[in-house]
Amino acid sequence: MSPSVCKLSFVPLFCLLFLGHFVCGQLDYKFYDVMCPNLTNIVRSGVWSAIANDTRMAASLLRLHFHDCFVNGCDGSVLLDGTDGEKFAFPNQNSLRGFEVIDAIKTNMEMACPSMVSCADILTLAAREAVFLTGGPYWAIALGRRDGLTANQTAANTDLPSPFEPLENITAKFTSKGLDINDVVVLSGAHTIGFAQCFTFKRRLFNFDGSGNPDPTLDASLLSNLQSVCPNQDNSDTKLAPLDRVSSSRFDNNYYNNLLNNSGLLESDQALMGDNRTAAMVNIYSKFPFLFSKNFGVSMVKMSYIGVLTGQNGQIRKNCRVVN
Ligand code: HEM
Ligand SMILES: *[C@@H]1O[C@H](CO)[C@@H](O)[C@H](O)[C@H]1NC(C)=O
Ligand SMILES: *[C@@H]1O[C@H](CO)[C@@H](O)[C@H](O)[C@H]1NC(C)=O
Ligand SMILES: *[C@@H]1O[C@H](CO)[C@@H](O)[C@H](O)[C@H]1NC(C)=O
Ligand SMILES: *[C@@H]1O[C@H](CO)[C@@H](O)[C@H](O)[C@H]1NC(C)=O
Ligand SMILES: *[C@@H]1O[C@H](CO)[C@@H](O)[C@H](O)[C@H]1NC(C)=O
Ligand SMILES: *[C@@H]1O[C@H](CO)[C@@H](O)[C@H](O)[C@H]1NC(C)=O
Repeated sequence: MSPSVCKLSFVPLFCLLFLGHFVCGQLDYKFYDVMCPNLTNIVRSGVWSAIANDTRMAASLLRLHFHDCFVNGCDGSVLLDGTDGEKFAFPNQNSLRGFEVIDAIKTNMEMACPSMVSCADILTLAAREAVFLTGGPYWAIALGRRDGLTANQTAANTDLPSPFEPLENITAKFTSKGLDINDVVVLSGAHTIGFAQCFTFKRRLFNFDGSGNPDPTLDASLLSNLQSVCPNQDNSDTKLAPLDRVSSSRFDNNYYNNLLNNSGLLESDQALMGDNRTAAMVNIYSKFPFLFSKNFGVSMVKMSYIGVLTGQNGQIRKNCRVVN
């Protein structure tokens, strides 16, 4: 769907003329301008203090928004507590981080603008601020998402991409959300920040595909480094390695430079070099960082519109962890 900027030539009946612009039942760039003008500052300062305490939190907030949008759309359902929640789905459990940061922002938001700002909008704004504060691009977002009433753990298990599945399958999951192969390549660039646990890439290090050897598409120096971080025993499974070996706390285009010298961390990262269509894009984003920045913003906006609830659908949660 596209953001709703009502044109004067066609103003649906349910739109109201409000201080010079039309507010409709859908997303709007000025959605909170009148009722919560300090919205962006509140989110930015919450993200800023979280990152000041823990640099990795920028990456964790970005991933939280992605995992929200790919399950039931961007409706804040990932934030809901409960053992049947999405938090406990395989890709999320003991992996997603940042819930307390969203809670803290929401608490400040409720003090400034009670029951006005959805948790889904807070997530999309927090992801944008996190990217910007780590040196990445900034982009405009239409707001007015509403919060979902249910979580869907089954969908979290089936719809989120796994690092162990082939590019074809990952692309199919993106396509089913209205994204395309270009979005796969550009949004994978999010792995320019943050960390992954050993179990998500360990099979590349010792006995890849039953060959008895490491993954041949893994750089030799990175391989020996990762083998010492993640020794071949179960108790190393939750140790961490940076997704971008060169600059893991900086949002830049080194993710693509790494792929060009066999230094992608996840199989699904390095797989972008195994297909000539995606490899061509990797080459371009490695050469032209500004093009990556621009396209990353465009794809993030696309992702942030997946399955949004607007108008009278859903609700504005008071506490992001529970429905009202
Ligand atoms: C293309 C398919 C993708 C796969 C297979 C994938 C897989 C993964 C895996 C396995 C991890 C490590 C999790 C852990 O060890 O606990 C991870 C981390 C991360 N992912 Fe992805 N991901 C994909 C796409 C994306 C997208 C589209 C975004 C955001 C736009 C994203 C953002 C991140 C970030 C920022 C981290 C680091 C999180 C942290 O340090 O807390 N990923 N991803
Ligand atoms: C806006 O929010 C920021 C961050 O929470 C705060 O420091 C500032 O005082 C607020 N400004 C107004 C006018 O409320
Ligand atoms: C700071 O980050 C650490 C993790 O690195 C976390 O345990 C702690 O709760 C954070 N403190 C605050 C005030 O956010
Ligand atoms: C949850 O997701 C699954 C898989 O996408 C779907 O089949 C099911 O209908 C969903 N359940 C609800 C209650 O929406
Ligand atoms: C990829 O998708 C196909 C078709 O849906 C499925 O049969 C196959 O098991 C998937 N492969 C992996 C590794 O998930
Ligand atoms: C990867 O390539 C970049 C240039 O694109 C170079 O600066 C860097 O040293 C290379 N890293 C390795 C491990 O070969
Ligand atoms: C991509 O590779 C396939 C076969 O591997 C080949 O047929 C095709 O021409 C290539 N396309 C481009 C754009 O190089």
